[in-house]
Amino acid sequence: MARKFFVGGNWKMNGTTESVKSIVEGLNKAQLDPNTEVVIAPPALYLLLVREQLDPKIEVAAQNVFDKPNGAFTGEISVSQLKDSNITWAILGHSERRTILGESDAVVASKTKYATDAGVSVIWCCGESLEEREADKTLDVITGQLKAVSDKIGGPEGWKKIVIAYEPIWAIGTGKVASTAQAQEVHAAIRKWLRENVGESVAEETRILYGGSVNGKNCKELATQPDIDGFLVGGASLKPEFVDIINSKQ
Ligand code: PGA
Repeated sequence: MARKFFVGGNWKMNGTTESVKSIVEGLNKAQLDPNTEVVIAPPALYLLLVREQLDPKIEVAAQNVFDKPNGAFTGEISVSQLKDSNITWAILGHSERRTILGESDAVVASKTKYATDAGVSVIWCCGESLEEREADKTLDVITGQLKAVSDKIGGPEGWKKIVIAYEPIWAIGTGKVASTAQAQEVHAAIRKWLRENVGESVAEETRILYGGSVNGKNCKELATQPDIDGFLVGGASLKPEFVDIINSKQ
């Protein structure tokens, strides 16, 4: 089964009502490759605005979701609130939440399990720091993060609602993109890990995205790699070149 190319736009904590409307308008007017699945993650405050104005072919993601049904959790958003608002995806385990907000592997795994069980799909992120790469620990770090989520998710059913984003921390927002060889090597290792630890069908069907300084210029070469099934894009997702990234397989 061919994996459908997938491009996510992670707007992080950027935008105003005006700029959000203008990006949405640009996407609605653009010619987007129908063979690419596109998901946009605006800041929580703009989720509803984006969902109302964006072409329904494009799905909308929250940048976080909590792992409790409802109640006294100030500042959090629940899975059922996302579903109620037609927000069908969440980004979880982004390195900015792991490092700045202190989310552990266990917290990320719990949120991922909670969301996927309730029917919200997850862009689940993993990635190593520069120190870890230089100490030759990249694959240990990635497989440790994978194991934590996999232990919680269990078998193939849960994995159907997960897209993996490999985002080396040293490449995020730095302009220092991983080389195609570096990215492909880790993507292949993730797929191998899935094959050996979860199963053949999950390994074959799960999309593995690359994220970290993807732009309109470097996307085409990265997209040629056999295990790169799309991108998670930060900075460039706020710019017109995001359309070129969506169309990078054309
Ligand atoms: P970047 O961010 O494209 O700005 O490097 C990627 C991400 O954090 O998802």
